[in-house]
Amino acid sequence: MKILALMGSPRKEGNTDILIDKVINGAQAAGHQSEKLYLYDLNLLPCIDCRNCSSGDRVCDRDDDMQDIYPMIEAADVILFGTPLYWYGPTGPMKLLMDRLLPYSETDKLKGKRAVLVIPSAEGADACEPVVTMFRLSLDYLGVDIADVLLPTAYEKGEISGNVEELERAYGIGAAL
Ligand SMILES: Cc1cc2nc3c(=O)[nH]c(=O)nc-3n(C[C@H](O)[C@H](O)[C@H](O)COP(=O)(O)O)c2cc1C
Repeated sequence: MKILALMGSPRKEGNTDILIDKVINGAQAAGHQSEKLYLYDLNLLPCIDCRNCSSGDRVCDRDDDMQDIYPMIEAADVILFGTPLYWYGPTGPMKLLMDRLLPYSETDKLKGKRAVLVIPSAEGADACEPVVTMFRLSLDYLGVDIADVLLPTAYEKGEISGNVEELERAYGIGAAL
């Protein structure tokens, strides 16, 4: 199985990054392949609602790194969305990527794929309700099932390294995919 991890925090080796690596470790131990993309390193343009993707061959023709990511998304069995909570939503690049999934809305190209959400925050799981709802409704619309959700509490960079329970949980999510 192929897992595509989308790392939506600007902090490399921060909480989201550490947790994603744990999920990947678990998945690799179970024999799965994985790839991780740092969204903040990529050139991602916003969706401008041009409607090009709602007719013809239903593709987005914005000239940016999404053109490389679309085939990776289509090839993945599991998509891991990792983002810290920013004002009760995802980070800017993660929201931008979600918007750019619009070409898939009238197709069944993502149907049957699974997703994992990894969302650390200072306030903890309850504060993540709006962002989890956003992901759930959007992914449901695209035919993607959410396999698991990890919503640990952490604030300082790398703080999650001291939380053995959440690290084990992340590993277990990957191992169970
Ligand atoms: C711009 C910004 C907005 C944030 N908004 C929230 C928030 O609404 N609720 C919350 O609990 N934490 C919020 N945080 C804290 C982060 O979610 C938290 O520090 C997280 O662990 C960072 O993960 P990272 O190390 O992967 O970047 C915010 C942080 C930033 C920089």
